[in-house]
Order: sequence, then structure tokens, then C-alpha cells
Amino acid sequence: MTLTVVDHPLVQHKLTLMRDKSTPTNQFRQLLREISHLIAYEVTRDLPLESKPIQTPMTSMEAPVLAGKKLALVSILRAGNGLLDGVLELIPSARVGFVGLYRDEKTLQPVQYYFKVPDGMEDRVVIAVDPMLATGNSSVAAIDLLKNAGARNIKFLCLLAAPEGVARMKEAHPDVDIVTAAIDEKLSEIGYILPGLGDAGDRMFGTK
Ligand code: URA
Repeated sequence: MTLTVVDHPLVQHKLTLMRDKSTPTNQFRQLLREISHLIAYEVTRDLPLESKPIQTPMTSMEAPVLAGKKLALVSILRAGNGLLDGVLELIPSARVGFVGLYRDEKTLQPVQYYFKVPDGMEDRVVIAVDPMLATGNSSVAAIDLLKNAGARNIKFLCLLAAPEGVARMKEAHPDVDIVTAAIDEKLSEIGYILPGLGDAGDRMFGTK
């Protein structure tokens, strides 16, 4: 597993604005969109290329294009949708899937309520997106489901990670590379990332 922290100054600046509790919903969403472009750049860095013949206005050439089957982006609902929008702007031809999980309040384990992914998952590079890698329980469960659906080449894109979540993912899915904008200090008693940015879904959708 590789863990990439995107420490680019623009990413860090925007992340600070997102963390600030006085940043309103509309700005939070806009910042998430901007930051998702920048971190998508990193998660797609090693996508394979092939060449195809084209004509420029000047001459012909063999030019690089992304190789193979289309990417699949998979949003882990609901906060994943905030990242998904920005990544899709960068890779508009990607196929899109959704995984819906909620946490059973008694067992604290994730329970699946929705699952829809493109066909041919075996042959796709799959990028699962969820802004917050906190306990890792829902991310691990989502990746279990993606592997059951045939995915073999999965990357995980998030905005913030807790060390506990990274360790859990590394243990359960050592083959999955993680890209994040920051690794925070720890989890709170109720599983929130500290210092974090609060509840990502609530901050992006204006719910409480
Ligand atoms: N999910 C969130 O939205 N925020 C956290 O801090 C942890 C999980």
C-alpha cells in the first residue's frame, strides 16, 4: 500500500479554509470542488497511457491517451458525492458507482443499503471516494463490497485521514493505495477526526 499526502500549498490553504467552522456551506462546497481537482491529479498520476495516431494542424503524430477500459469512480454515500463531483469534472468519461452504508447504532458496524456499480469492474481502475477516513469501518466495508463485485485495482481518495483509519485500511486492504490531503492527529471518542472539519456531509449539504 502507498499512502500519499498531497502537501501542495494550494491544497493545504484550501483545506484550512474548509476546516474553519466559520466557513459557510456554499464556500465549503466550492472549496471541496477545487481541492478534489488537485487531489484527483495525484490519485490518477500512474494511470497507464497508450498512444494513438492523430493529425495536428501541422503534421501527424502518435499521441498519448489513457489506456484500457474506462475508470470507475465510486462514491461512498453521502459525503463521497462532494468529492465525486470535482473528480468527474476532471475525468468526465469515467463510469460512476455508489455504495450506501449506514452505521448500526447497536453494533456500530456498517450496514449496506445501496450498491450499484458499472459492469466489468475486474478490468477497471476503481477510485473509491470518501472525504473522511475516520475509523475506517465504512471504507473497509465499501472496499470489501467492491472486491466482491470483482474489482482488483482499487485506489482510495479522501480529504482527511485519521491514523486509526489508515492502519485499519492497511490491515484489511494492503493492496489499496490511499491519497489524502492530510493525516490528522487522532479520533475523538465518538469517531470524529481531530482536529478535522466536523461532519463532512453536514458541512457540504447544510444539514445538522
Ligand atoms: N465523518 C465525518 O464526516 N467527520 C469525521 O470527523 C469523521 C467521520
